[in-house]
Amino acid sequence: MKQTTRPLLALAVLIAFALDLTAAPVVTVDASGAKGKVSPKLYGLMTEEINHSYDGGLYAELIRNRAFLDDPKSPAHWSVANDDASAATIALDPTTPLNDRLPTCLCLTVTQATKEHAAGVANSGYWGIPVHAKTQYRATLWARPEAGFSGPLTVSIVSTDGRIVYASEKISGLTAGWKKFEVTLKTGNVTPTAQARFQLTLDRPGVVRLGLASLFPPTWNDRPNGLRKDIMQMLVDLHPKFLRFPGGNYLEGNKVAERFPWAKTLGPIEDRPGHPCNWGYRSSDGLGLLEFLLWCEDMKAEPLLAVFAGYSLEQDHVTAGPDLEPFVQDALDEIEYVIGNTKTTWGARRAKDGHPAPFNLTYVEIGNEDYFEQAKTYDARYAQIADAIRTKYPQLKLIATIPDAKLNGRKPDMVDLHDYSATDDFIKKSSNFGADMKRNGPEIFVGEWAAHEDAAVRPWDAAAHKLPPTPTMKAAIGDGVFMAAMERNADIIKMQCYAPLLVNVNPGARQWRPNLIGYDALSVYGSPSYYAIQMFSRNLGDEILPVTFSGTSVQGCATRDSKTGEIIVKLVNPELTPQSLPMEIKGVTVLKSKATVITLSANPEDTNSIRRPRNVVPVTTTWSGVKPGFTFTMPPYSVVVLKLEPQ
Ligand code: AHR
Repeated sequence: MKQTTRPLLALAVLIAFALDLTAAPVVTVDASGAKGKVSPKLYGLMTEEINHSYDGGLYAELIRNRAFLDDPKSPAHWSVANDDASAATIALDPTTPLNDRLPTCLCLTVTQATKEHAAGVANSGYWGIPVHAKTQYRATLWARPEAGFSGPLTVSIVSTDGRIVYASEKISGLTAGWKKFEVTLKTGNVTPTAQARFQLTLDRPGVVRLGLASLFPPTWNDRPNGLRKDIMQMLVDLHPKFLRFPGGNYLEGNKVAERFPWAKTLGPIEDRPGHPCNWGYRSSDGLGLLEFLLWCEDMKAEPLLAVFAGYSLEQDHVTAGPDLEPFVQDALDEIEYVIGNTKTTWGARRAKDGHPAPFNLTYVEIGNEDYFEQAKTYDARYAQIADAIRTKYPQLKLIATIPDAKLNGRKPDMVDLHDYSATDDFIKKSSNFGADMKRNGPEIFVGEWAAHEDAAVRPWDAAAHKLPPTPTMKAAIGDGVFMAAMERNADIIKMQCYAPLLVNVNPGARQWRPNLIGYDALSVYGSPSYYAIQMFSRNLGDEILPVTFSGTSVQGCATRDSKTGEIIVKLVNPELTPQSLPMEIKGVTVLKSKATVITLSANPEDTNSIRRPRNVVPVTTTWSGVKPGFTFTMPPYSVVVLKLEPQ
């Protein structure tokens, strides 16, 4: 043995003793009495505009740069559509805007065109326009012709080279001034493709301006400004109980002026200018405050609203006191929009926007990751905002973003902890996780967490961009042990959510890795971590049962469903070999011999992708080996949910 390996060996021996790996393996679940209650809201989702989560993701809009504001210098993602015998030019025209919120428009000048050789403008969408068979797309245009041109306009979805027309309709009735047009484009029995573009053409010379162009496929619950159905299905399948929004860093913005502008995200899409998102691209704000709330409603999840607290990423901050007052009022107004009755200013606005009933809000988070602020002003900012919210809405529970902050003597109801760790680190810290947590302090919200495979490649490092956008099975093992640790401590950890949730997998679309769910224009898939979370969240008891592990590196947790008596044991095997675990279930006399076993097992490097969306998925089986003193064998590298039924 080389000298240098000795300290490592000593460390391994120490860890082995700490985990009690020297004893004979045994897992003991004590079902004689519950250790505490599991919060029914334990599993939720965290979301923000990152990795094209909404624009080019969940928000179903297919036109990229629909209001022509993405780049002040040129009409990004728009191009001239013509052939050898037709000609046109396009340019931004700030002299004739549609309204004062969208300060520019696109001017299309067709200089040469005929019925056989049309010319116009095309939009490439978010890495393609998805074409599905027998599907109706709703196109909306704000158009204004110049004198001498009265139409028609042809709106179509065509192949990227313009040769195949998937769907097409004509618009006539153009009159002087801006006018809104809506047409339905219907595809036939086509093979699905994203090699397509949206196009608007003229069959004669003329000038027409576009104030806004929008194209929607069918959406979840048929909402007009709605969400992509396939991604929503993935989210609903996680059975989330809450949605933390709008961030994350997206709440804060790089500068105070670039924070999430909730009030400007309301109303018709032609009234929404969008804003620069801190993740390097402009957000359309099509998925605005009301859409977040409807998204929650559609998932039967509660909103967990984060309000801006006067600190932005580039260390811009607002000093507590009179300077902060407008921001305090802004937070109160935002809450009023969510829960105020229709006689209040913002409650009335919500009713005008189509939702008279208040939403069901319990938790409000004040800020995001304020521990990164160098000037350390959170205590006073929190106190001022919390006092105002508590005075007006005493029923709300408030979340602070710095766990151990003094907060000028204010007591938050909950604190938000974030943890992005490598799988090996989660394995190390999860076995004894929670031992030092104060049981009499504020409740705990783990508002962002995720395992990445390699300690040396952290989610925010450039090196992470060289790896696939979603994690492998190795990360799911880290996620599994950490979720088990959180469930064992679910008496104090009341809520938790993985982050980030969504990623568009196209090159250049992402800013972070790993992410839970990946998609392109046509399809969506869940990572192994997605399935691990699904297994945990869909199999949640309501009582925490004490569980101990000795002589094994398997970690886990146990709960019981107090209504049915079912005992749910979750186990994670971080070894590449099977582990036989003698199981002792104390405090129950008879269990049915048949148990339901849900298993996620794969090699560490195995993963899912657009091409192989179901390479690593859980498998449900029935196992008949339950009897007093039974032994359960964990497959190598696996996450298992074992459901034991009382006789
Ligand atoms: O989840 C990605 C980012 O990580 C969040 O926006 C931020 O809150 C955290 O630092």
